Amino acid sequence: MVITAAKARMQNIVKRYGDTIALDNVNMEIAEGELLGLLGPNGAGKTTLIYALAGLVSVDGGSIELFGRPQDTHLIEHKRRIGLVTQEITVFVDLTARENLEFFGGVYGLRGSLLQQRVSETLAFVGLEERAHQFPAKFSGGMKRRLNIACALVHRPELLIMDEPTVGIDPQSRHHILESVRQLRRAGTTVLYTTHYVEEVQAIADRVVILDQGNVIADGSVADLVASIQHEETVILELMETVDGIAERLGSVDGVKQVTPEGRRLIVTSTAGSGNLDRLLEIVREAGGVRSVQTPAPTLEDVFLTLTGRQLRDPEEE
Ligand SMILES: Nc1ncnc2c1ncn2[C@@H]1O[C@H](COP(=O)(O)OP(=O)(O)OP(=O)(O)O)[C@@H](O)[C@H]1O
Ligand SMILES: [Mg+2]
Repeated sequence: MVITAAKARMQNIVKRYGDTIALDNVNMEIAEGELLGLLGPNGAGKTTLIYALAGLVSVDGGSIELFGRPQDTHLIEHKRRIGLVTQEITVFVDLTARENLEFFGGVYGLRGSLLQQRVSETLAFVGLEERAHQFPAKFSGGMKRRLNIACALVHRPELLIMDEPTVGIDPQSRHHILESVRQLRRAGTTVLYTTHYVEEVQAIADRVVILDQGNVIADGSVADLVASIQHEETVILELMETVDGIAERLGSVDGVKQVTPEGRRLIVTSTAGSGNLDRLLEIVREAGGVRSVQTPAPTLEDVFLTLTGRQLRDPEEE
């Protein structure tokens, strides 16, 4: 018998919606007890991947294994062992916070005093004890998110799948959620944490899978992925004003691999050690002056930029 330490494994998963290939031969494994960050821009296929794992969409090719067995969407045991925090908030607005948890706990087979105990513990865990008897309509965005998370936790799943659980919330709730996720992991829960916020993945993930246009383009620890692009250097030049053709001029400097204009800012990636900063500065000075120069330490954002030539995050966003 093969003993597998993977909680979930996807092999060559293909999912199409008409002409759109949402998942293009995805291979991914979630190891027991790890906190895996799934990072990708809008439309990368993150939700589709999660739905496939949770058995909510059928796939067009490949295979999925859960808890060491082939996925069986009819198997109640698979459903019971997974907790899914959906990207859209899916709580009942005409039930109180407590009643919402009682409902979801009941769906997973909890009854009586055990149900009540789990509901109380889960409300406390997400910091909503004092709101137990209030309706979610009165909640802030962050409180709704926390209730949404609680609904997926009340049955104590061993694999928790979270789809962008911190979108559009206040910093305090974000901090609370990230801290709760860390705590769950310490207690042995395996977590798949999906986001398009690089900082979150850098802060909490043991390992990260980067998904782009339905493809896994990177898989490893944050440190390993960042190290893998250390053969490059980034300089951010902020100009006094936008200048036509400046990206092309900078692009022709020795050592420059890529120039990404972002309004008045230009992100210039060069081969490490190319020593071209003087030349770059000369060009921008001639073109009307430079407001600021930054040479940031590489992040997962740079990993994405290096691999795809695009920004992970829309610069217009918050
Ligand atoms: N039900 C659907 N019907 C048709 N196309 C779909 C459907 N769901 C997703 N898609 C398409 O599949 C691709 C992947 O979408 P998906 O929602 O999985 O991405 P995502 O990474 O979760 O994006 P976001 O960050 O916006 O949530 C996109 O091109 C999307 O338009
Ligand atoms: Mg999504």
